[in-house]
Amino acid sequence: MEVPRRQCEVGQGAMMHTSLPFRALNGLENADSLDTVIACLKKAVNRMIHARAAKDLLHGVPPGHPLHPLAVQLSIGAWTSAVILDPVPGTQTASEVLIASALPAVVSGWTAWAELHPQQQRVGVAHAAANAAGTLLFGVSWALRSKGHRGPGVVASAAALDTIAVGGTLCGHLACRLASGTNHAEEVPHLVAPGWQRLCELGGIPVKKIEKRSLGDVPFLVWRAADGSINVLSNKCSHLAGPMSEGKVYHSSSNPCVECPWHYSRFSMAPRSGPGSGHDPAGCV
Ligand code: FES
Repeated sequence: MEVPRRQCEVGQGAMMHTSLPFRALNGLENADSLDTVIACLKKAVNRMIHARAAKDLLHGVPPGHPLHPLAVQLSIGAWTSAVILDPVPGTQTASEVLIASALPAVVSGWTAWAELHPQQQRVGVAHAAANAAGTLLFGVSWALRSKGHRGPGVVASAAALDTIAVGGTLCGHLACRLASGTNHAEEVPHLVAPGWQRLCELGGIPVKKIEKRSLGDVPFLVWRAADGSINVLSNKCSHLAGPMSEGKVYHSSSNPCVECPWHYSRFSMAPRSGPGSGHDPAGCV
């Protein structure tokens, strides 16, 4: 399901002054000429990674933390160490192990990317392209060294790390400017006063029907189970702030799970699945 486009030209222009190189990123976000390529890539990713259990694992549902930022540490650490150690005589820093260290980040990154909105996906494609170019340069470095050309191999490794730094900058833009991979329900506990709050009359809540209620401007989803127990969740999905009250309710063992209508993350008092691997947007009455 397509997520409505964000009006980023208005929102970001009002946020802060943006200097020249980063203004180009605003252009990248809105480069809809990339959308044909993105559609093909998305189809390919969804075809390759389609089992729900595999997707959940790659989104980081079992540990309750997005997997991509963790997996990235492996390759960044390996690549940075390799370049730092390059001047040490006798070290062989470019190898197939170094290149393979990117694999967990690549697989988890494409899985997360496939569930983003169009502007995030455009920047995400550029991020992936920069990292692919950097990885390729490490491959060139390895090939040069294997043939005894250590000097050019060292230069290729340094160029690889520089290219990956560009990819990292794009990743920072994705996370900090476009809020990709962040918990979109994080602010909810900070927007309501501490302690018990009066949300609605208990008698006004129907059984087994999702109801939307608000505390001030903060929307919540209210669910009353057949046994009369009440669950209250943030109405904003932690993945990309999808409207949870428009989702469906499923029952997993004794717990009701609400499925977000945008990318089908499920949230419950029990473990959940889907790209929203952040904290459960859960509250209580
Ligand atoms: S917004 Fe993506 S799963 Fe809810």
